[in-house]
Amino acid sequence: MSRLLKKHPGLAWIALVVFTSVCSLAVLWAQKNRSTTAVAPAVKSEAKPDLHPVTIKPGPPTPRLDTGLKDPHGKPITVACSTCHSTTTPNADRKTAHDLVQAHRGLSYAHGNLTCLSCHNAKDYDTLHLADGRSVAFPDVMTLCAQCHGTAMRDYTHGSHGGMTGHWDLTRGPRVKNNCVNCHDPHHPKFPLVKPVLPPRDRISVPKEPAGNDKH
Ligand code: HEC
Ligand code: HEC
Ligand code: HEC
Ligand code: HEC
Repeated sequence: MSRLLKKHPGLAWIALVVFTSVCSLAVLWAQKNRSTTAVAPAVKSEAKPDLHPVTIKPGPPTPRLDTGLKDPHGKPITVACSTCHSTTTPNADRKTAHDLVQAHRGLSYAHGNLTCLSCHNAKDYDTLHLADGRSVAFPDVMTLCAQCHGTAMRDYTHGSHGGMTGHWDLTRGPRVKNNCVNCHDPHHPKFPLVKPVLPPRDRISVPKEPAGNDKH
């Protein structure tokens, strides 16, 4: 190597120039990627001319409260969240659900130390809100999750978190990705909604139920 360089001193310069330009390209690429993944829209279709699109399933529709009453056709009567919440005073301190008495009894809640109004929009209960106060429609809830869970969001964007259906190779077909709330209950995110699957049955190596119960 060093003998080669002594013979052609220009080579070192060319190597240096190539190396620095590769580095700066990598930095540029990383920055561009970061800025596009920081806040992801809930439904993203990034169609390039020769590639199939990646679609993210939308979040839930705007919820409504079931009154428990039925209309003449037997359909449940529901009301918009804002029906009551445009007249009640928002409780910005609430971070528990077990002591809800006037409404929403039975709601199960454990999400860090978050207050309800970290996500729900005190100015309009039919929406959620970001840290800067901008409102977010329920179907776009992932934008909100992404604000606090940068690492999970990065892993999700890179495909190692969250699963997918369809094609990994986008030249062959489209890909559909799950929404965060398809797996995590926003009120109780720690335990994924994924149903456990029974282990496969193996007649040969799996021993029968321990003897006992039916023996005496
Ligand atoms: C029938 C009236 C009514 C409707 C409709 C209603 N709420 Fe409430 N909500 C209440 C009351 C009353 C409280 C306070 C309960 C308490 O403190 O015991 C409350 C509390 C809350 C809180 C806790 C923060 C606060 O301001 O107290 C949130 C968040 C909330 N509701 C969200 C919703 C959402 C989302 C919907 C729509 C699915 C909804 N509510 C529909 C009556 C209602
Ligand atoms: C991490 C964000 C987040 C926090 C914190 C949060 N919510 Fe919600 N909430 C949501 C989302 C998203 C939905 C829509 C869920 C759906 O429809 O599947 C929702 C739905 C609701 C609903 C209507 C549907 C239902 O489950 O009854 C009520 C009522 C509600 N929230 C009350 C509360 C209360 C009370 C608190 C605090 C104890 C709270 N939320 C905290 C995100 C949040
Ligand atoms: C305002 C910030 C904030 C928002 C918005 C938010 N989270 Fe969280 N989340 C937290 C905090 C804080 C914790 C608790 C972290 C801890 O205890 O280590 C947490 C915990 C979690 C956990 C459990 C991690 C663990 O292992 O304990 C999951 C999963 C999660 N959040 C998913 C979500 C999803 C999905 C959304 C969108 C619906 C969301 N979060 C919205 C702040 C947020
Ligand atoms: C296909 C289902 C699925 C989807 C979609 C999904 N997660 Fe998860 N997530 C999991 C599982 C499974 C775990 C591991 C649970 C555990 O260890 O308790 C997990 C763990 C987490 C944790 C805690 C561990 C960590 O990596 O910090 C956070 C936070 C989290 N997810 C946030 C998110 C967010 C934000 C989204 C949307 C961008 C999302 N998840 C989408 C299944 C999912």
